[in-house]
Amino acid sequence: MLERIQKIMAEIQALQAHNAEEAEALRIKYLSKKGEITALMNDFRTVPAELKKEVGMRINALKAAAQDKINALKEAAVQEQASAPGIDLTRTPYPIPLGTRHPLTIVKNEIVDIFSRLGFTLAEGPEVEDDWHVYSSMNFADDHPARDMQDTFFVEAHPDIILRSHTSSVQARVMESTQPPIRVICPGRVYRNEAISARAHCFFHQVEGLYVDRNVSFTDLKQVLLLFAQEMFGPDTKIRLRPSYFPFTEPSAEMDVSCTICGGKGCSLCKGAGWLEILGCGMVDPAVLEANGIDSSVYTGYAFGMGIERIANLKYQVRDLRMFSENDVRFLDEFVAAN
Ligand code: PHE
Repeated sequence: MLERIQKIMAEIQALQAHNAEEAEALRIKYLSKKGEITALMNDFRTVPAELKKEVGMRINALKAAAQDKINALKEAAVQEQASAPGIDLTRTPYPIPLGTRHPLTIVKNEIVDIFSRLGFTLAEGPEVEDDWHVYSSMNFADDHPARDMQDTFFVEAHPDIILRSHTSSVQARVMESTQPPIRVICPGRVYRNEAISARAHCFFHQVEGLYVDRNVSFTDLKQVLLLFAQEMFGPDTKIRLRPSYFPFTEPSAEMDVSCTICGGKGCSLCKGAGWLEILGCGMVDPAVLEANGIDSSVYTGYAFGMGIERIANLKYQVRDLRMFSENDVRFLDEFVAAN
């Protein structure tokens, strides 16, 4: 036994390691559960009683020496690595590349932020909807062309269950569950059965707004939309409203903003017109209020709706709508600064 101890002690004193891995291998060789020194300690039982004291002391000394030696080797290996040429531990690390918000999220947040400063609260609803909330409660006649297969995605086996084609369905859900005053902004994804091209997609994103209270007038609508346009596109932005038609608003209008590039002089973006169409709006049709349980002899309201892709295009001139859903990191990286 004493000989074994002596032999291992000699080995320990002569140990060498070139790097931290080698030093670790030595620790395993001598000190791990199956290591040589551990084996010695296990054999200690067999040592005759009169030798136990001496052998015990020597084994303990051997173990301590091994631990010290191997720790010293590890320490030296680390030091050496740190001072090796080519490694500069004081250098600032490479920056970790962070992800960016999606441009549509950036624009949506901006729109929601503007309207929340005007007192609108956020409302959301399901993308898989029933006909009532998307169309019937919104005053679409039974034979209205928008219900047609051309526009609406039906969920098979349920002719009544569809993918919403506008977020007006969220307005319906808010009205049926809340009495005025109502002031909500409803962002979300919508689906329309259209051929995919640079200018159209089978899904896109909308933000709709709804305000219902006593004495809400068209003037209120116009003022809120002017403020929105100037916050979104700059303080010199002008707006113009053109008469239009939606089943759920009367009167209805479409709103243009002065061109975000040329300011109204005429350029390739506005195709010489000086104006860009950005949203639909109008006074909520009394039939819609009634269908959703709101007394139209007491309350009036306005509503508006816009496509987020459209607004994003005007801000960032994205030429192809498909870019928004292809997740090409080179495209998304361009919006790092806008985050
Ligand atoms: N829901 C309309 C659309 O999808 C937009 C709109 C909303 C128009 C509210 C007027 C009022 O095109």
